[in-house]
Amino acid sequence: MTYQNLISEVKENILYITINREKALNALNRDTLKELAQVIQFAGDTAEVKGVILTGAGDKAFVAGADIKEFSDYDASQGEQLARDGQAAVFNAIENSPKPFIAAINGFALGGGLELAMACHIRVAADQAKLGLPEVTLGLIPGYGGTQRLTQLVGKGKAIEMIITAGMITATEAEKIGLVNYVVPQGDLISKAEEILSLVKLRAPLAVARAIRSVIASLNETDGYEVEIESFGKCFDTADFQEGTTAFLEKRKAVFSGK
Ligand code: CAA
Repeated sequence: MTYQNLISEVKENILYITINREKALNALNRDTLKELAQVIQFAGDTAEVKGVILTGAGDKAFVAGADIKEFSDYDASQGEQLARDGQAAVFNAIENSPKPFIAAINGFALGGGLELAMACHIRVAADQAKLGLPEVTLGLIPGYGGTQRLTQLVGKGKAIEMIITAGMITATEAEKIGLVNYVVPQGDLISKAEEILSLVKLRAPLAVARAIRSVIASLNETDGYEVEIESFGKCFDTADFQEGTTAFLEKRKAVFSGK
């Protein structure tokens, strides 16, 4: 299958997916999300695929978030729908896939980009990568599962600090708090992910799938994702959201009124 915004190929039982919008720092626009949903489905349905490596084109960004240009005029119900559709078709679909996904974080992983990496089962980061959830700078909260998965990975205190300060952390700091499994030089990023999958490929595929499913089942007893989706939607009806996204698009600092 060919895609407009992704490069994908299967080699030696690994599906390689590269998000290919380098000029927009691989930001997730509608079309890219649609294609991601298709390729995730393909991974799940194709016996030849024993693992997936997901990365971003170029060496600057893994993914710099959801595409701000596409949602800057959304209202609350459109915002809620954006989060609901994206979570179901892409983020939860990765987490619930029977195939192990490794995020190879080659640069900025921000907002929806970090959320995409966190939906993957394992994360390997290049040493120059920067990670963060900057949504509150836009008058938003994370809407692709970030409030839930960051908390699961690093605990409540660090998750709240990262989300409400909108601070970016280095790959080394991310490894220290358990947000990424390994940090390696940029040139070794894909080979490190391949090394992990070379072990997985030797194991029983059905057992691998059931092991992933069982681990994930331990995490989602209450529906925090639903709370996040509704809260994300409500942000779109605020003056702060208008100001935050307008300031980003006008390349200036936002001045929030708290309304
Ligand atoms: N959406 C749309 N376009 C984006 C983008 C995004 N998330 N991130 C970067 N771009 C675009 C920029 O607009 C710019 O395009 P133009 O050349 O056409 O102006 C291009 O990518 C290069 O970006 P910069 O010029 O800003 O590059 P920089 O090196 O100065 O800064 C950066 C890099 C710090 C990553 C900065 O681009 C940035 O802060 N990006 C936004 C990060 C962000 O806020 N992400 C969260 C998005 S909201 C979200 O994800 C919601 C959710 O949870 C569902």
